[in-house]
Amino acid sequence: MALNLPLLNTLLILLSLSITITTSLPSPSPVTIHQDSPPYLWPLPAKFTSGEETLSVDPALSLTVAGNGGGSPIVRAAFDRYMGMIFKHAYNRASSLLTRIRFLSMVEYDITSLKIIVHSDSEELQLGVDESYTLMVSKKNELSIVAAATIEANTVYGALRGLETFSQLCAFDYLTKSVQIYKAPWFIQDKPRFQYRGLLIDTSRHFLPVDVIKQIIESMSFAKLNVLHWHIVDEQSFPFETPTYPNLWKGAYSRWERYTVEDASEIVRFAKMRGINVMAELDVPGHAESWGTGYPDLWPSPSCREPLDVTKNFTFDVISGILADMRKIFPFEFFHLGGDEVNTDCWKNTTHVKEWLHGRNFTSKDADKYFVLRAQQIAISKNWTPVNWEETFSSFGKDLDPRTVVQNWLVSDICQKAVAKGFRCIFSNQGYWYLDHLDVPWDEVYNTEPLNGIHDPSQQKLVIGGEVCMWGETADTSVVLQTIWPRAAAAAERMWSTREAVSKGNITLTALPRLHYFRCLLNNRGVPAAPVDNWYARRPPSGPGSCYAQ
Ligand SMILES: *[C@@H]1O[C@H](CO)[C@@H](O)[C@H](O)[C@H]1NC(C)=O
Ligand SMILES: *[C@@H]1O[C@H](CO)[C@@H](O)[C@H](O)[C@H]1NC(C)=O
Ligand SMILES: *[C@@H]1O[C@H](CO)[C@@H](O)[C@H](O)[C@H]1NC(C)=O
Ligand SMILES: *[C@@H]1O[C@H](CO)[C@@H](O)[C@H](O)[C@H]1NC(C)=O
Repeated sequence: MALNLPLLNTLLILLSLSITITTSLPSPSPVTIHQDSPPYLWPLPAKFTSGEETLSVDPALSLTVAGNGGGSPIVRAAFDRYMGMIFKHAYNRASSLLTRIRFLSMVEYDITSLKIIVHSDSEELQLGVDESYTLMVSKKNELSIVAAATIEANTVYGALRGLETFSQLCAFDYLTKSVQIYKAPWFIQDKPRFQYRGLLIDTSRHFLPVDVIKQIIESMSFAKLNVLHWHIVDEQSFPFETPTYPNLWKGAYSRWERYTVEDASEIVRFAKMRGINVMAELDVPGHAESWGTGYPDLWPSPSCREPLDVTKNFTFDVISGILADMRKIFPFEFFHLGGDEVNTDCWKNTTHVKEWLHGRNFTSKDADKYFVLRAQQIAISKNWTPVNWEETFSSFGKDLDPRTVVQNWLVSDICQKAVAKGFRCIFSNQGYWYLDHLDVPWDEVYNTEPLNGIHDPSQQKLVIGGEVCMWGETADTSVVLQTIWPRAAAAAERMWSTREAVSKGNITLTALPRLHYFRCLLNNRGVPAAPVDNWYARRPPSGPGSCYAQ
């Protein structure tokens, strides 16, 4: 089934490979995609070369590991998961085993083992963890200087990214009923452009069951996204268990729509196994009405339920208690404190708040600042770096803790302004990267560049990445995955691949066929991603047609 090259030819290919390993690679050849020439990689690797060979992959592919981190259970578990994804046709394994028994000496696969080399034994997952990897796939040969398929990475998380790419090289061939890798030999040297590549989910506007959150996390790993921003609570519901203040989750929609501490820890563990950090959010002082269901003292008055009562120490005791409980669950160095859309009108007409403001000579804007800064100090005291929505920067940026990470949503050039003041920034402009905006097509998501308007390299570095936001007002379990996908993938490639690769050429030719293919890959893995060509997100297709062209 594979093309048999004369030995010398193979040797030459291997030699040229060994040269490219040690010297810098030529820039990737222009990507020309044809419907009939897989594989299509998404997101596009930073550097790669490919050839013209077709190699078969043994359904009994074995894993060999090396390096200090090779033996990590994270690597083993990922290999097992990907084996299930690569060899999903049940009859394939069985029939090939039968074939092997019958024609033992005749059946030979080109790729019989995958070698994963991981240099570091640290499984610490934090912002900026090394996700780079090298992936080589070439025919197994007596003279081979590299194993048939090798992933080399500094960390287990780089190895995970390499495994995803390897799985995307593998395609099932219906004629031979075997898994094949086209265009071998492959040499891929890959790393992300941005260290923070997020997706927000909102479990307050609609509760999302733990299994659904896990499906979302799993699907994120296919597009190499690496931060799940969990907007856990908001004004509508408080589904989260907080042992220190056990009445808080009385603010859940119902007693069945809740997350226990153990649920949350399991989500963090599940995400870590896929190289994904979980950033929790507690949005204060606005967006917090649901807190008062359990503790009405947090409301300034029964008719003024948010922002939270700024005058009482109890309010900050509760925040401190929640953060202490959450610190035991969420190891990520970032914690999101919200701070968006604070409407202080009702503070001004609540007698005791009005008196408190007067006593401190505070405007209500001063009081909002006081609240946000005090909450920041609580987070910092728990060894967290605070993240806040952009309003905190626009209203009182000069008073924010300099460690603050500003998250954009509203104003398109806010990251430009924030990094000019030395803050780090996460780009999430609502016009393009809010997934609940259903009228934004994939190409507008794709063409949105977080570094637009920022020219100074030292300021560019402060844009740590971006995030697509799946707000939950009009999305629940019934539609959430098809609203996220495939558009989140468009942003994922923007954030992973090189700026040149995503900015050059006609994306109808360079990206769309690959995105179609990636959407179908998601479908094949059970993710209900919607058609790419939708004029309105998450709709079913408008008529009959191939997955690869809709
Ligand atoms: C409230 O907390 C502040 C800051 O910790 C403290 O200075 C103040 O004495 C407290 N007030 C009361 C009434 O406990
Ligand atoms: C205070 O203002 C808010 C919003 O403007 C309003 O809903 C509320 O009824 C007012 N409360 C009182 C006590 O006047
Ligand atoms: C109150 O604050 C304003 C401006 O913030 C300032 O001009 C004024 O002097 C202050 N008044 C007192 C009594 O401190
Ligand atoms: C991009 O390519 C498509 C398909 O060939 C074509 O229809 C479109 O006009 C091209 N766009 C530009 C800006 O060249």
